[in-house]
Amino acid sequence: MPLDIGDQTIALCNVAGELHALEGTCPHAGGPLGEGALHGTTLVCPWHAWEFDCRTGVNDFDPDVSVATFPVKIEAGEILIEIP
Ligand code: FES
Repeated sequence: MPLDIGDQTIALCNVAGELHALEGTCPHAGGPLGEGALHGTTLVCPWHAWEFDCRTGVNDFDPDVSVATFPVKIEAGEILIEIP
């Protein structure tokens, strides 16, 4: 699920009820990661299918490529994402 928070785009993933938030812009060519398919813990970019672990933000093919991840918690029914 894509979220726009300020000037930041976030991809929010729900893995078996556990939420993970990561940078929503793919480092390959700027694809919208939040619109990608989620297979287990793997988020697949909808443009050219680069894959990222939504828990770590690390690309499955090249561990030197990653997107930022952000802490998420739920308080009083609200999803809180800590963005630096
Ligand atoms: S823009 Fe994401 S794989 Fe190309």
